[in-house]
Amino acid sequence: DTKQHKDIRVWCDGCYDMVHFGHANSLRQAKALGGYLVVGVHTDEEITKHKGPPVFTEQERYKMVRGIKWVDEVVEGAPYVTTLETLDRYDCDFCVHGDDITTTAEGMDTYQLVKTAGRYREVERTAGVSTTDLVGRMLLLTRNHFKRGQYEYSVAKEHSTTMGQDSSARSPWTGCSQFLPTTQKIIQFSDGKAPKDGDKIVYVAGAFDLFHVGHLDFLEKARKLGDYLIVGLHTDPIVNRYKGANFPIMNLHERVLSVLACKYVSEVVIGAPYKVTEDLMSHFKVDVVLHGETSVMDDEDGSDPYEIPKRHDKFMTLKSGNDMTTEKIVERIIRNRMEF
Ligand code: CTP
Ligand code: C5P
Repeated sequence: DTKQHKDIRVWCDGCYDMVHFGHANSLRQAKALGGYLVVGVHTDEEITKHKGPPVFTEQERYKMVRGIKWVDEVVEGAPYVTTLETLDRYDCDFCVHGDDITTTAEGMDTYQLVKTAGRYREVERTAGVSTTDLVGRMLLLTRNHFKRGQYEYSVAKEHSTTMGQDSSARSPWTGCSQFLPTTQKIIQFSDGKAPKDGDKIVYVAGAFDLFHVGHLDFLEKARKLGDYLIVGLHTDPIVNRYKGANFPIMNLHERVLSVLACKYVSEVVIGAPYKVTEDLMSHFKVDVVLHGETSVMDDEDGSDPYEIPKRHDKFMTLKSGNDMTTEKIVERIIRNRMEF
């Protein structure tokens, strides 16, 4: 094939239910195999037929995949079995999938047809993250609903000592993360672009735990108010102080990758101070600080964490128009998984 790399069109498909950075990483690798990436996302009906009902609706799942920066186009309602007709219809050269087998309700490999035709490429699945593991962490939140030893999903209940050891990325519960953060992963996910002279710099901070459609709508609107969007991520102990219970579900390093995969984000502060300081504002030349309509918890000393930007008249409340929260996701997942 003499086709130039930039002219290669790549196809991926999947459920993309509870999108996490493992999905994003597979799309990143797929995009690198060509110049244009088309992602087919299955309908709720199709997923229900082959593997049981998804947690997120198709509209939510389409939006989440569109928000990932390596995705050029989303095909809504792509068939569960990938056919040559589908690849041809979207003018894609080949299909890319992780190195796990996906089967239909009848047990057929969904990629058999494209494999046989030599129009299939494989990428390595991202170790240490999966929907099953995240659901397991969420089910730990309901431990008193279960009798001892009745966990349907097994996650390490003791802190993992063989993987990451960063205390800023450790709450009582994210200690069970099996994901090993490396600078290489961060570099692969980052744009590495500095702001240009005269760019209007927008700063937002938060937990961004279990990155969801509410976050996505908020960041899309935040980005539109400026040219360069910086997201400050609070450490696990800070998030745990204001969210309570067993939050965050995802540790700091995992949250960094989820936020970096979002196409509206220019830069991430890993472990941002809870109080937006004078130093932070001047260091990043921040023009405006935004927060959604969710409540803002006081700092430990009882002060408003946005006191300084407010004093400079650089603070605004931004309506995301979406009422999704991390807590709602946890409730939804627990309800969904309890049905089995
Ligand atoms: N994927 C990956 N690494 C992971 C999880 C998923 O590379 N840790 C890839 C899959 O191999 C697939 C794509 O993401 O190519 C989307 O597939 P989907 O059907 O949505 O994901 P699942 O395999 O069901 O992943 P999970 O169990 O985490 O939901
Ligand atoms: O709750 P968390 O710290 O993750 O929220 C990060 C930011 O996203 C906050 O500014 C919050 O108000 C905003 N948000 C929003 N709409 C949602 C969820 C969060 O505007 N549905």
